[in-house]
Amino acid sequence: MSIQEKKQDPKPTFYLTTPIYYVNARPHLGHTYTTVAADAVARWKRMRGFDVLFLTGTDEHGQKIERSAAKAGKTPQEFAAEVSSEFRGLWDRMGLTYDDYIRTTEPRHKRGVQHLFSELRKRGFIYKGTYSGQYCVWDELYVEGSPGTPCPDCGRITETVSEENYFFKLSAFERKLLEYYEQHPDFIRPEARRNEVMAFVQGGLRDLSISRTSFNWGIPVPGDEKHVIYVWMDALANYITALGYGSKDCANFNQYWPADVHLIGKEISRFHCVYWPAFLMAAGLPLPKSIVAHGWLLFEQSKMSKSRGNIVRAETVLDVLGADALRYFLLREVTFGQDGSFSFDALVQRYNADLANGYGNLVSRTLAMIVKYFDGVVPEPADVQGLLNNLGLTPGPDDPDGWWRAAASETLADSIANEFAIHTDKFVEFFGMLDFSRALGTAQWLIANIDSVLTEIAPWKQPQGFSDDAQLATRATILYGAAEAIRIITALVYPVIPDAAAKVWQQLGLGDITQADLKDLQWGGLKPGTKLGELGPVFPRAEKEAIERMQNMEEDRVATATGEAQSATADQDAVPNSKISGPAEQPPPPHVPEPFSATGLSPEQEADAVAQQAAANRQVGPVSAVFDPLPPPQPLVGPVTSAVPREPKISIEDFAKVELRVAIVRVAERVPKADRLLRLEVDLGYEQRQIVAGIAEAYTPESLIGRKVVIVANLAPRKLRGLESNGMIVAASVGEKGKPVLAGFLEDAEIGARLK
Ligand code: MSP
Repeated sequence: MSIQEKKQDPKPTFYLTTPIYYVNARPHLGHTYTTVAADAVARWKRMRGFDVLFLTGTDEHGQKIERSAAKAGKTPQEFAAEVSSEFRGLWDRMGLTYDDYIRTTEPRHKRGVQHLFSELRKRGFIYKGTYSGQYCVWDELYVEGSPGTPCPDCGRITETVSEENYFFKLSAFERKLLEYYEQHPDFIRPEARRNEVMAFVQGGLRDLSISRTSFNWGIPVPGDEKHVIYVWMDALANYITALGYGSKDCANFNQYWPADVHLIGKEISRFHCVYWPAFLMAAGLPLPKSIVAHGWLLFEQSKMSKSRGNIVRAETVLDVLGADALRYFLLREVTFGQDGSFSFDALVQRYNADLANGYGNLVSRTLAMIVKYFDGVVPEPADVQGLLNNLGLTPGPDDPDGWWRAAASETLADSIANEFAIHTDKFVEFFGMLDFSRALGTAQWLIANIDSVLTEIAPWKQPQGFSDDAQLATRATILYGAAEAIRIITALVYPVIPDAAAKVWQQLGLGDITQADLKDLQWGGLKPGTKLGELGPVFPRAEKEAIERMQNMEEDRVATATGEAQSATADQDAVPNSKISGPAEQPPPPHVPEPFSATGLSPEQEADAVAQQAAANRQVGPVSAVFDPLPPPQPLVGPVTSAVPREPKISIEDFAKVELRVAIVRVAERVPKADRLLRLEVDLGYEQRQIVAGIAEAYTPESLIGRKVVIVANLAPRKLRGLESNGMIVAASVGEKGKPVLAGFLEDAEIGARLK
């Protein structure tokens, strides 16, 4: 349904957004997590009678994107369009039900952002000044500190910027924001994020630089086009520009704003909970009703992200297990709001336990029995207790089949219906709180119980002393009960596993689930006499081999993308993240004020802070600043014309963290069923170790034996195709396809020697 059509709809509205994703990286499971959660909420709200507007999109401006495009040899426009359509293509392939997809390069957005800027300027909240200080291009964040200061969010070394900028009077909103948080305890969820944000604001807000002049990939400041608007102001405004803010047609804005929920990942809380409400207050606009921050999806112990090279593509899971399996896993396995780990083992285990052996098995055994005993027509439940009484069969100690009858009568007469009512309410309550995991746990509990009742009562058996009538009545009752239970469970889980739920709905003979009233969760809603639809498997069991297949698909992708199987772990972007190193994430320090020197710290204190940060960074994970560099920085002042990459500066300490050594290849062989991988045994003089390298397309095994190579010796071990790889061979990545060319020496170098 288009937004235009929705306007006629008298239902209550529900406006839900995801962050708009940066187009410097292709979509991975981390992005999928947020979008899937939003899709589940959107479906849930629709099925409960709301007129939902679900918005997602891409964030396409800024220096980071400009640099990524240059690195890829493309214009920012081409590059952004390509990656944006990958995001959209993935969401479409997964059947996500977003209603609008905004790109920040669209004219509707540009117009709205310029309008917002002009409005803030008109209201006296913008002034011109000079910014001189540090900037993290990766996080698009102004950072307090001296040159060389690492970014508090990602740990990368910040760049020094000295520019004439426009500033937003953020400091004027400190008190108003704190009052607002106090008066609206549900504005930021969960509580932990709210506390962090409040502590950050209580620490003092400084005015915020909201324009840049040293590059031009952005939205020009109206009337002063050499400035482009700060990318976070540009991006946050998407939530209103998509509704027509800044255009003549305000109907959608009036109808849907303020948003009910901005769903975000926790690392962007500050932008959403401090800057965004301040911009809105300054513009005289209502604030969103709530901002809900979820935790991170971790892979191999750290946040899944391109920069760490530890990403998994949704496509891999879709190809092997399908979208519902992925959706279910993400929402069941990870407690919303907290960090949770992804692994292929856990995915397959969860799939088999809950979906194949749980829900899928209950559906197929129940419906198969209805076909067998009732010609595929939902039977009429009988009054089993009454029947038993008529037969004079009262369960008791003298009755050898008493357990059976007791189970049948008690369970069927009252228990199922009561239990269902209680658990259905619980599911609804949990889902409403976005506690997907507990809601799905409740559904799983119901499934397991119905399943064990079926097994206990065994409708395929005829117990001694039972007439055919009694047997038939009992069988009809238990199968009706199981089918009705399936109907209710299916309605509940539809927002999470929509494809499977649609299939089961058809199999129950209920037609198209998208047309059904899924609010009807009253026991007894399934009409006896309903003819079942065509039966078929819902969740076939996944074999163990599925895990290996998915792992291999990802390893092949990594090897292909880099020409070096392990290079992802050595990505320079994988600078340690102070946030990830400790359990409690600290709110980042306030933005740099103008003038820059007013940090509030003495030079000694600043130096200490930098040293402490560097020490904290050293404690976490491998750093490689040499192999896959950050996008090149642009000149700090003046128009950007050059696309020639320049490396950002790193300190000698950063470089020293990478242990590069000379090694000689002793053994080299192909890895079976992996076209790009070679298994090498390299000798460092003091030790021999195995390395798996993605260089088989460029080097034959024979050509490598006896050759001296450079390895990164202190990389954490990693498994590739079941083989442990201890280190990485250093190679240049040449040409468009990234052909690996091994690093070597013109003069002889002793094995084991360290490169410094
Ligand atoms: N463009 C900004 C957001 C602007 S919104 C006005 C941005 N983009 S991003 O591409 O970096 O995406 C960030 C969002 O992607 C996170 O907030 C989160 O929702 C999702 N995730 C990306 N990686 C993630 C994990 N590993 N785990 C969970 N979510 C993650 O920031």
